[in-house]
Parts: sequence; structure tokens; C-alpha cells
Amino acid sequence: MRALVTGGCGFIGSHLADRLVAEGITVRILDSLQPRVHPRGLPAWVNPRAEVVLGSVTHPPTVRQALEGVDVVFHQAAYQDYTLDFSQYSAVNVTGVALLYETILRDHVPVQKVILASSQAVYGEGQYDCPEHGFTLPQPRSRTQLQRGDWEVQCPVCSRPLEPRLLDEAYPNPFNQYAVSKYAGERLALGLGWLHGIPTVALRYSITQGPRQSLFNHYSGVCRIFVSRLRKGLQPILYEDGRQTRDFVHVSDVVEANWTVLVQEAADFQAFNVGSGVAVSINDYAQRLCQAMQMDFRPIRRGEYRVGDNRHSVSSIEKLQRLGWKPKGTLDDIFADFLNWVDSLGGIPEEAFAAEAAMREAGVVQQAAHS
Ligand SMILES: NC(=O)c1ccc[n+]([C@@H]2O[C@H](COP(=O)([O-])OP(=O)(O)OC[C@H]3O[C@@H](n4cnc5c(N)ncnc54)[C@H](O)[C@@H]3O)[C@@H](O)[C@H]2O)c1
Repeated sequence: MRALVTGGCGFIGSHLADRLVAEGITVRILDSLQPRVHPRGLPAWVNPRAEVVLGSVTHPPTVRQALEGVDVVFHQAAYQDYTLDFSQYSAVNVTGVALLYETILRDHVPVQKVILASSQAVYGEGQYDCPEHGFTLPQPRSRTQLQRGDWEVQCPVCSRPLEPRLLDEAYPNPFNQYAVSKYAGERLALGLGWLHGIPTVALRYSITQGPRQSLFNHYSGVCRIFVSRLRKGLQPILYEDGRQTRDFVHVSDVVEANWTVLVQEAADFQAFNVGSGVAVSINDYAQRLCQAMQMDFRPIRRGEYRVGDNRHSVSSIEKLQRLGWKPKGTLDDIFADFLNWVDSLGGIPEEAFAAEAAMREAGVVQQAAHS
């Protein structure tokens, strides 16, 4: 079998490429080495047994070259960050998907399956219940509400705080440039796959963690940001009040999810959540990380918030579990594996701090008037 892994030089794609090579699959990677993710060029972790095609998923001749002789595509490449160049998100995350199917069909590439990385972001502000008005898919919290330092999501009818539900695959509700582009890419892939008989699966990853996360872009999140501060003796800054919840999944479980849907026909033409299903508040996350690093926990809460962040995002993983997949990596595994990797690099590079500063400069981080 021959596999194409787009974005295969990145965090998840490189782990996936390693697994496919280990399974005896011939792997080709297509990656543009996006400069904010890879400011130092080709990373050393790229599997030496994989062929690497450098170029963009939006460039027709490159995509044609990358698809030649391929049986299965793992589409991991994406434009992702907290940046204001909104048009880039759809240019890569939607057009890239369209070009993939266009090329498969035009060139008669006998692709047997496409597995596409989607995101928990497609759920937007999430899924909630009001004790009086029932189930709702709320709008993101308004700027006025956030400026008041009023963090919980409110019922659109009675304004009372809502109870979050585990995110169910049936109710996407994306808002921001990244989420909308990932959902559009996913719909396009599942739709074109269905219409043209190309088995397609979309995997909506929760926050994925482990070694090889980009240390440089704004997007790749909480573990890198907290670890970089703690390693300098600085306490973590918690946005909002720190009680917002997420679920975190180890990259090895994400790789296993890709493998599960590759080998099971029952997965075809569907979207699945890939997460841990376990709610962890950012406060608890930071506290457990401090424990793992044997540091005091005295977090900084200034009532800051990030524009476009959602309050509670924890995925239900029942649907994929029914195919036999089960997440194994714990939060402690995530911390241990990330910290060991950072040590192997000789620490987190200074440039990592620039991402936080750039996010503030772009106005993504705001200060509530009262909190
Ligand atoms: N990491 C997470 O927490 C997470 C969560 C949800 C969804 N996802 C999705 O998983 C996938 C992989 O994410 P990741 O965390 O490994 O990110 P990453 O940034 O580490 O990897 C993405 C790779 O895609 C490449 N790339 C970007 N634009 C490209 C283009 N136009 N053409 C070719 N290659 C391009 C980058 O150079 C990079 O190597 C993405 O589709 C992302 O949207 C990730």
C-alpha cells in the first residue's frame, strides 16, 4: 500500500508517517514547511524512509505529483493559528481539499480512502442545556459579556448560565475563520467522497498533545506556553478564570484513531470525534503540570481572555469507541513525553515567546474591564 500524508512534516502528520512506515506502508509526504510552524526548515524528526515532496496542497502540479500511485491519503496539512489573515484559512483548508478530490478524479488516481484531519473547533461555542429552555447551540459569548469578566455561556432566552454537554458529532456550529474552514473542508471531503465513491472519513481531533508540537506558532497551545514560562521560573497565566474546560488527547491515540478508521469500512463517509472525553479545567491542567515539573502552583489570573476562545469544549468519544478505539495516553503521559522531548532539544527556544507577544499585539488577548 502507498500512502500520502499531507502535512507529514508537522506534529500529528509526522507521528502518523512513522506508524505507517512501521506497518510496512510506502509513505510519501507533501508539506510546504509553513514558516510559522517550521522556521528552521525541515525538522530532523521526518521519517527517513518517507519520500518528501515540498510544496503546497493548493498548487495543482505539486498535488498531482504527490498523488501519483497513491492508494490512501491522510490529509493533515492545514493553516491554523490565531492570526488575522482570515482568507488564508479557507485558501488552504477548503481549496486544498477541493484540489485533492479534483486531482484524484481528473487523473483517475485509484485512491481507496481519504482520511481527513478535522477539528473539535467545528463545534464553536459548544452544546449546552438550560434547565428551563432545554438544549441549545449558543453563539459565542459577546464582547460585552467578556468585557464584564462574565465567563459562563448564557441561555439565549433567559440569560441564565448553561450546563455544558459532551460534544456530539451531530451538532457542529463553527464561528471563527479556522473552525469554519475546517468544517467546510470536512463537508466538502465527505460530500465529494460520497458523490464520487471515494471512501472518506473526517476525524475531529480535540487538543492533541505530545512531542513535536510546533514550538513557534500561536496555535499549538497550552502545554508549550505553560512549560516555556515555568522553565523560566514564571507562573502560568490563566485566561478568563481558569475554570474553562477542555479535553486533551495524546498524539499516539490520534495516530491509532487514523489507523482504526483506515482498516474499518464501517467508518466510511462519517465524522468522528477523537479526544479523551474527560473534562479538565485549565486551572487543573496547570496545577498538574506544575506537580509534574515539581514547581509551586501560583497561577496568574488577570481577567484576560482570548477573542474567539470558547468556554467548554469536551468531546464525546462514544462513536469512535464503538469501532474499538480507546484512548490510552493520560495527562501524565502527555506531560512526561512533552517534557522529555523538550529536554532532548535542549529546552524551549527563545522564539517561542514571540508567539505570545504577537498574539497580544494582534489584539487576540484582551483584558476584561471587571473580573
Ligand atoms: N494539534 C491539534 O491540537 C489539532 C487539533 C484539532 C485538529 N488538528 C488538525 O490536525 C492537523 C495536523 O495538525 P498539527 O497539530 O500536526 O499541525 P502542524 O502545524 O504541526 O502540522 C501541519 C503541517 O501542515 C503543513 N502545511 C501547512 N500548510 C500547508 C500547505 N498549504 N501545503 C502543504 N503543507 C502545509 C505545515 O508545514 C505542517 O508541517 C491539521 O489539519 C489540524 O487542523 C490539530
